[in-house]
Amino acid sequence: MPEVTPSKKNAGISDRKSDHIRINLDQDVRSGLTTGLEHYHFTHHALPELDLEDIEPAVTLFGKQLCVPILISSMTGGTNEAAAINRTLATAAQAMGVAMGVGSQRAAIEHAELASTFQVRPFAPDILLFANLGAIQLNYGLGVEHCQQAVDMIQADALILHLNALQEAVQAEGQTHFAGLLKKIETVCRSLSVPVIAKEVGWGFCEEDVHRLAEAGVAAIDVAGAGGTSWSQVEMHRASNESQARLAAAFVDWGIPTADAICNVRRAAPDMFIIASGGLRTGVDIAKCLALGASLGGMAGPFLKAAAHSLELTIQTIQEVRREIQVCMFATGAGDLEALQGKKLVRD
Ligand SMILES: Cc1cc2nc3c(=O)[nH]c(=O)nc-3n(C[C@H](O)[C@H](O)[C@H](O)COP(=O)(O)O)c2cc1C
Repeated sequence: MPEVTPSKKNAGISDRKSDHIRINLDQDVRSGLTTGLEHYHFTHHALPELDLEDIEPAVTLFGKQLCVPILISSMTGGTNEAAAINRTLATAAQAMGVAMGVGSQRAAIEHAELASTFQVRPFAPDILLFANLGAIQLNYGLGVEHCQQAVDMIQADALILHLNALQEAVQAEGQTHFAGLLKKIETVCRSLSVPVIAKEVGWGFCEEDVHRLAEAGVAAIDVAGAGGTSWSQVEMHRASNESQARLAAAFVDWGIPTADAICNVRRAAPDMFIIASGGLRTGVDIAKCLALGASLGGMAGPFLKAAAHSLELTIQTIQEVRREIQVCMFATGAGDLEALQGKKLVRD
């Protein structure tokens, strides 16, 4: 992959992307909340009547075969460091048969020379791959043609439009003109060649917003609930003055925990395809999300740390999470994912 040299014009976006990676790797950016999954428990089966090694967590989603319903959540692109991370994540995703999203492609829409930092298909020809743009960009000059461009740029199977209102609100350079956005999301859903997924970035969705997004025609919702990486905490570390830092810090306990967000989607749009994410750290977390109604479980922070270390650690991380899901299926007596999804969790 050729090196990209940030021009003066795209230096701002590149600096921000570098800040995000550095802060997520070096600082404690955890939400003050938990995912809520700790309140849910599977019923243990002492007599599973299954052979562990026969249990297959494979599934077909969006027309692509996955060995296990794990998603490497949308993270990065736009710099040389980000390109290397994307390449490592994609190589691991291809080796293990899991899904992956790239980070917001706005930088490459505005500066074509950055497209290569997102283009992972040469490393992952077969994976379920998600393009990514901030939905707010639809209120700042991007339209359907740019969304299609983001999809085509990486040969994606679907487009994620992320909603990060609170993150924008607590940063000095934030784009906060959110009025009228839903209609534009609806237009994209109607016009794009691939399904559109609405995603939060770590604060989850309430029922009212799920209902409105379902009406607008989104094909799936990635809840990205609270309990994991907190973007107000990331912005607190990026703040250029104390007042800005205090504003961001005030939101450490904000958001809808991942478990509640999944239940909100279930109630407001019972047929919606649900991607669970936000603070998922083990295969048991993902398994609980599947039993609550999700079809895919995403993790961001843990995969960033693994990819920054090595390809081997990234693959090992996926293997461990897969094994945890498999053992969870064994100990709950679920021979396949459908059976796992049918398990009733006990709430304490
Ligand atoms: C370094 C980094 C960059 C991210 N960039 C994006 C992005 O561009 N688009 C997006 O939809 N989410 C982005 N996210 C959010 C994640 O996809 C995810 O929703 C969030 O981090 C919560 O998951 P976690 O607790 O497993 O980290 C980013 C996360 C990290 C750690």
